[in-house]
Amino acid sequence: MGFGCGAGDLFSLEKLERDGCVEYRFSSTRWLITTAEIHMRTQVGIIGAGPAGLFLSLLLQRIGIESVVLELHSRQYVEERIRAGVLEHGTVQLMRELGIGERLNKQGLEHGGIELRFGGRGHRIDFRELTGGKSVTIYAQHEVIKDLIAARLKAKKPIIFEAQDVSVDGLGGDTPSINFRANGVAEKLECDFIAGCDGFHGVCRTSIPSEALTIYDREYPFGWLGILAQAPPSSHELIYAHHDRGFALLSMRSPEISRLYLQCEPDEDIAQWPDARIWEELHKRFATTDGGKLTEGPVIQKGVTGMRSFVTEPMQYGKLLLAGDAAHIVPPTGAKGLNLAVADVRVLAQALGDFYENGKTQILERYSDICLRRVWKVQRFSWWMTSLLHRFADASAFDHKRQVAELDYVTSSRAAAQTLAENYVGLPMEFYE
Ligand code: FAD
Ligand code: PHB
Repeated sequence: MGFGCGAGDLFSLEKLERDGCVEYRFSSTRWLITTAEIHMRTQVGIIGAGPAGLFLSLLLQRIGIESVVLELHSRQYVEERIRAGVLEHGTVQLMRELGIGERLNKQGLEHGGIELRFGGRGHRIDFRELTGGKSVTIYAQHEVIKDLIAARLKAKKPIIFEAQDVSVDGLGGDTPSINFRANGVAEKLECDFIAGCDGFHGVCRTSIPSEALTIYDREYPFGWLGILAQAPPSSHELIYAHHDRGFALLSMRSPEISRLYLQCEPDEDIAQWPDARIWEELHKRFATTDGGKLTEGPVIQKGVTGMRSFVTEPMQYGKLLLAGDAAHIVPPTGAKGLNLAVADVRVLAQALGDFYENGKTQILERYSDICLRRVWKVQRFSWWMTSLLHRFADASAFDHKRQVAELDYVTSSRAAAQTLAENYVGLPMEFYE
């Protein structure tokens, strides 16, 4: 079993032999190992080492609650997976509070606004001016993951990578458990609570009896074709472009690397998109009346992402608490998925803190209700940004005129621009008594 870095890179464990069992102590988490099976026990078993699971582990660590993180993939895989890029104001502040802001402070690109481009003209939405000084920061999700993993391992707290056949058991009782295999050996982790942070395709949500859940789902008739290019970004801020040929987004990862997206079919065949075709299409969609040009460069990664809105209600069942993409998905147009995952686990850490410190279950019982208030506001915003900017194949001439009028309104009315800005930088977190 690999703790921290995958097989072959073990931390030293304290080994005690008692009553025919071997007890390993890893920090304050205990493994009782018999010849047949390994039993471990912790307070919170966290399934998934994405943003939700890893942020939760550090938030719990800060208030003295023990956890074990179980991850399906290898450390290298999760540290290299290309995903989100925009961190809300509050997510950035939290990283600093958790003592993982060093690389973010050096490499993150702070943005005080975005451009909405339509009719060949750009219109800036000034976040700082509209939100009392708030901003967002461009810092890749996989860099956040590296910082979180490094902090967790530095504190010598366990992450078990490459955990297979993960399943949950006893959710309605006092001792829920997680069964899994590591290096071919069957293992059982007993917990007080299980945090289901295993993303949209994980096992936690689907372990809840379907009659206990209500699912709200919307698929969009398009996807995004995304590229990473070795090209200096053509703008110092993000550009969200509305065009008759479809939506396009210019983002970035560093002063040398651009991240660009094109609206495409939901099942688009990437093989039909050689680099030259991608650039040609991007040039058309970002074209301006004053002849502004996109900088091209070698494409170093490309892929197609589907778009959906999805909410599970409630986000808890017995001792299982869902967080992040395991409970909800937003289309990426509002740049909210990672940030919403972080908001969930902030509430969860507070609820668990109140339980362990004060013996109170009130916040824990209301965990789902508390989270869902924010989830639905973020769903609304992400759906609205998506509807505002994409081309809908079945749109009538009326719909098209209405969409352009809405863009005109958002970029000419302070009230409308402020609504966009306060949602984009992140709604305030609410904490509970
Ligand atoms: P995940 O990141 O999916 O993590 C879940 C983890 O659980 C994974 O590591 C997975 O391997 C693991 N896992 C799965 N099954 C199991 C199992 N059975 N056992 C153990 N482990 C398991 N969000 C933003 O905020 N801003 C953006 O700019 C943005 N842009 C995006 C662009 C794209 C192209 C995409 C695809 C997404 C974007 N998002 C964005 C969304 C964001 O990436 C996700 O919302 C975020 O990753 C959710 O975090 P999570 O921890 O809930 O889930
Ligand atoms: C990104 O940089 O990947 C990104 C930026 C803004 C979005 C979505 C994705 O809305």
